[in-house]
Amino acid sequence: MAKPKTQFVCQNCGTVHNRWAGKCEGCGEWNTIVEEDPMGGIGSGPGKVPKKGRAVTLTTLSGETEEAPRVQTGISELDRATGGGFVRGSVVLVGGDPGIGKSTLLMQAAAALSRRKQRIIYVSGEEAVAQVRLRAQRLGAADTDVLLAAETNVEDILATISEGKRPDLVIIDSIQTLWSDTADSAPGTVTQVRTGVQAMIRFAKQTGAAMVLVGHVTKEGQIAGPRVVEHMVDAVLYFEGDRGHHYRVLRTVKNRFGPTDEIGVFEMSDRGLREVTNPSELFLGERNAKSPGAAVFAGMEGTRPVLVEVQALVAPTSLGTPRRAVVGWDSSRLAMILAVLEAHCGVRLGQHDVYLNVAGGYRISEPAADMAIASALVSSLADTPLPPDCVFFGEISLSGAVRPVSQTAQRLKEAEKLGFAGAMLPATSAELPKGGNARWTKIEDLPDLVSRIAGSAKKLGKQDDED
Ligand code: TYD
Ligand code: MG
Repeated sequence: MAKPKTQFVCQNCGTVHNRWAGKCEGCGEWNTIVEEDPMGGIGSGPGKVPKKGRAVTLTTLSGETEEAPRVQTGISELDRATGGGFVRGSVVLVGGDPGIGKSTLLMQAAAALSRRKQRIIYVSGEEAVAQVRLRAQRLGAADTDVLLAAETNVEDILATISEGKRPDLVIIDSIQTLWSDTADSAPGTVTQVRTGVQAMIRFAKQTGAAMVLVGHVTKEGQIAGPRVVEHMVDAVLYFEGDRGHHYRVLRTVKNRFGPTDEIGVFEMSDRGLREVTNPSELFLGERNAKSPGAAVFAGMEGTRPVLVEVQALVAPTSLGTPRRAVVGWDSSRLAMILAVLEAHCGVRLGQHDVYLNVAGGYRISEPAADMAIASALVSSLADTPLPPDCVFFGEISLSGAVRPVSQTAQRLKEAEKLGFAGAMLPATSAELPKGGNARWTKIEDLPDLVSRIAGSAKKLGKQDDED
């Protein structure tokens, strides 16, 4: 009988090749192509009798279901990001740049859980036991009963964590160091990472222990040992932050047991991560309300309002092509706002450099920030400070109209709580809270906003053409 033909499958994107190649033509990744049995070892290959399936009981969508049992750390910012604590029997991936503080966060979580009489095993593949102990001392966690192992072999790790009483939480730091005897590629490769993660997931499901896997992010923003891992686990959290700043954000990007738009905010100190329960105060901390070009944006992160200052500097250029530099926001979105300002408000910026910065190293992703950005730009150009106790939000369309955004009431409530008595917001905003002493200024469109901020057109140099 003819030998069954094997095929070569890219482990990153699934493209099937006839021959082995170093680089996959489908996704451009190197060393991801692996020889596979076309039947995947199942079904009707030669010499195999297809197994008769067993019928399972079909059920309805309604019915009794229990809440997933959780282990709460008591670190509220972490519990918030996981949707109320780690779910037993589930696997969470914590990704982030090297050095951002993943190991620190998880050691603190381990210590907090251990103090709550939970059995925690911390497996470090990157650092020796002595190094981990040193960090634990620094974090004031050395007196807890967290169990430690420095190991990278998957089979040895499984044997270790299977021994004795079932652990409540196992932390594997990191998946890139895992290697298994059963996969023959080198440690750190896709196949090795995948095999290791699969084994860990099986352990979690079988024993009901919660598991946290740490993964480093590559330059392209992916977890090395590619997206495959994200699909396999129950939840994916990213730990982000700017190296130059102290604050860190734990962001949920996938969660089978909770919401995905929550964030936890921390501050890195010399004694580990400190929870920041009111992020707005952190981002507004060093505010200089009297300078032109600074606008406070009332943003939302999931269900939580976050007030943050955006700063613009618009200055005459000495270059042929003026500069546009953005930190903390989308540069193509800035280009769009500049274009709308020129087209609909006659604000000429072709001879000006434009610099935009979001305070505190924070990153804004909401289009709702459009109006705050436009206000900051106009304020800087006109050299007129914005009202100091006013927040801004609203999306700007290409026609210059100001569009309403979601969760108006929450944004305004947070602004009022922090002492902002006014807000400039879209005229069509629904759900405006009643009462109180606050002043809401409804903005129809961008020209309306510009004339309110700059007052006379003279400040914006509109009359240049007529001179
Ligand atoms: P770490 O948790 O080792 O990062 P990761 O596991 O994501 O690679 O954190 C590394 C950085 O955090 C390091 O630059 C030192 C700093 N750090 C503090 O500032 N304070 C502390 O208490 C600790 C433990 C670390
Ligand atoms: Mg680490």
